[in-house]
Amino acid sequence: MSEKKYSLELPEVARNPHDTYRKLRDNAPVTELSGRSSLGAVTLSRHEDVMRAFQTPEVFSSDPGAVDIGNTRPLVPLQIDPPHHRKHRKALDPLFAPQQMAKHEPRVRELIRELIDNVADEGHCNFHHEIAEPMPSTIFLELLGLPVSRVEEFLALKDGIVRPPARSMEERREMVNATGQEIYAVLEEVVDARMAERQDDFLSTILDAEVEGQPLSRDDVVDIGYLFFIAGLDTVSASLECMVAFLAQNPGHRQQLVDDPSVIPHAIEELLRYESPVASAARITAVDTEVNGCPISAGTRIHVLIGSANTDERTWDNPDEVNFGRESKKHIAFGAGVHRCLGSHLARMELRVALEEWHARVPDYRLAEGIEPRFSQGIRQIDNLELVW
Ligand code: HEM
Repeated sequence: MSEKKYSLELPEVARNPHDTYRKLRDNAPVTELSGRSSLGAVTLSRHEDVMRAFQTPEVFSSDPGAVDIGNTRPLVPLQIDPPHHRKHRKALDPLFAPQQMAKHEPRVRELIRELIDNVADEGHCNFHHEIAEPMPSTIFLELLGLPVSRVEEFLALKDGIVRPPARSMEERREMVNATGQEIYAVLEEVVDARMAERQDDFLSTILDAEVEGQPLSRDDVVDIGYLFFIAGLDTVSASLECMVAFLAQNPGHRQQLVDDPSVIPHAIEELLRYESPVASAARITAVDTEVNGCPISAGTRIHVLIGSANTDERTWDNPDEVNFGRESKKHIAFGAGVHRCLGSHLARMELRVALEEWHARVPDYRLAEGIEPRFSQGIRQIDNLELVW
């Protein structure tokens, strides 16, 4: 394995990781990154190797040992390997099917219009705080059945897991473990309330779901809720921010969406590929293995670099060109294999409605003077996305 020469931590690399991705693929396709972004793991960056990690769970397991995110039981279904994984997906897939998600589109449109109304006449806004964070988190809390009035508390808990302000791996582990206990307490309180009295929400539906003829236990429902809490509160916001930051800096691309909104679904797929807002996934080797001639022993944490796979020139023509007419849509921004994202239909609908409504009201915008977008690691949120128009 090559020495620790590369890092994704510097702000300019987090903002534009493509050069570093290319250097990794060419010079160090199996390596440990330097700094905190290493997560103490071996990083895989070539498309072929990333796909192998996603598609051979018997070698690259999703066991909870793969990553520290504060949970004391496996998250369902993310940290369950086949064959047990399948029965959980069978129970959950219908809840997130495209027809189900379409029913929520009017509410998403109503909410995004309200949020845009608050800023449209101002001529400026912080897109993260005023649009991208409130929209998906309000929708998700409503769907799941968690009180929207506590959104700030929930967002702080989610941030405590996804991007804790830690200076070392040890400090990170302590912080996420403490936050994890708070998340369990919130979820247990709501699940107990729904066990006593069902409402029209996902938690109630999940409580009534059956896996192989058996109802799910209270712990199962809490463990599903914990994963939803992390996956549902962060990913769509970060994706919308990555897309709008790109469009704010590329007026030619933005104009295509304004001139013809039917381009928006294509733009979403291409920007999911190019920006890869969820930049990586975690695995742990279940057995001794080898990647690109490099031996990896059982029990090694693996950092699967989705963003690099999505821009690998071994797989994509002109990968660094953003082309809304691109033919191949086989990006892996939602992962691949059995754990491919459960929420992709919800995410795509929210992103489309948000981009349609935003460009109808605010067609011509740019980054505020002097702003250098600050991307966080892992899930690429941009908290200083200051726009003017
Ligand atoms: C654009 C937004 C989103 C992106 C880019 C994204 C990305 C991903 C990725 C890369 C994975 C695979 C992780 C792995 O293999 O380790 C995943 C899994 C998952 N995502 Fe998403 N996600 C998004 C939105 C959502 C939303 C809104 C939900 C809401 C519930 C969600 C729920 C899940 C779940 C439950 C899994 C685990 C599936 C399984 O293990 O079978 N995601 N997502």
